[in-house]
Amino acid sequence: MANNLKGIILAGGAGSRLFPISLTGSKQLLPVYDKPMIYYPLSWQMLLGIREFLLISTPTDLPRFRELLGDGSRLGISIEYAEQPAPEGIAQAFVIGADFIGNSRVSLILGDNIFYGKLGEFREATEFTEGGFVYAYPVHDPERYGVVEFDDNGFAISIEEKPQNPKSRYAIPGLYYYDSRVVDIAQNLKPSKRGELEITDVNLQYMREGKLRVKCLGRGVAWLDTGTQESLLQAANFIETIELRQGMKVGCPEEIAWRMKYITNTQFDQIIGAMPANSSYSKYLRNILDIPG
Ligand code: G1P
Repeated sequence: MANNLKGIILAGGAGSRLFPISLTGSKQLLPVYDKPMIYYPLSWQMLLGIREFLLISTPTDLPRFRELLGDGSRLGISIEYAEQPAPEGIAQAFVIGADFIGNSRVSLILGDNIFYGKLGEFREATEFTEGGFVYAYPVHDPERYGVVEFDDNGFAISIEEKPQNPKSRYAIPGLYYYDSRVVDIAQNLKPSKRGELEITDVNLQYMREGKLRVKCLGRGVAWLDTGTQESLLQAANFIETIELRQGMKVGCPEEIAWRMKYITNTQFDQIIGAMPANSSYSKYLRNILDIPG
């Protein structure tokens, strides 16, 4: 279990690139195949052993998340909520979450990032004690992301946010691990030209101190983006393919809570009982409870 590691899920932003489908509600509540997008990052962090969460969203959307996920006790976890009044950057999450973080280490995951694959590749980050830990993932369109450049020995030497001329094809996914100093670092950041507290500036600060670990993710891990119409559909198709082929769901928090033994068979049974019996989701859960695989 990821001892003393707390989790922030940031589900803010206007989702402007997805206009008009993001107009009437949070992008992170849009479906990715058979469940709301937010289930995937929540599930991922649960699989990595995190049990204490702070979900940050806009004042308008926060009540919807609360309605969907509650205080987490149903799943044997805790979920607190906080508002980000304006889209002023990812790093602002650490300012908003200062009290929640306290003296703990913290992992931030973006509510629209979906990870799938070898969980083992991610364990190391949950166990680090000092500094920051991020990943590098090869993509064909690095200019859309934070981009990290390595020297010949594999050390990170530069990080740039959405560079016009990327120095590498390695993007930094929206999954970050820091010690509690991140609060201080975020509080002292200046807004960038686009008026945001940039997560890239947090990473640069750790990098300058020689305290940023960057691990390359290779084949065998899928990091899916949901920022555009195409990538949203591709993510849904990917999840559908895996789920139909294996008969197992991806990103199902109830199943994970049960498999991690956060909830008993009886509690799991009650959760399923409260779902519409005709939904494929509840039928799936009923099946795994009755015939554990
Ligand atoms: C943000 C970060 C970027 C990171 C990306 C991952 O970009 O600023 O560094 O690579 O998330 O999804 P945004 O999605 O806000 O454009």
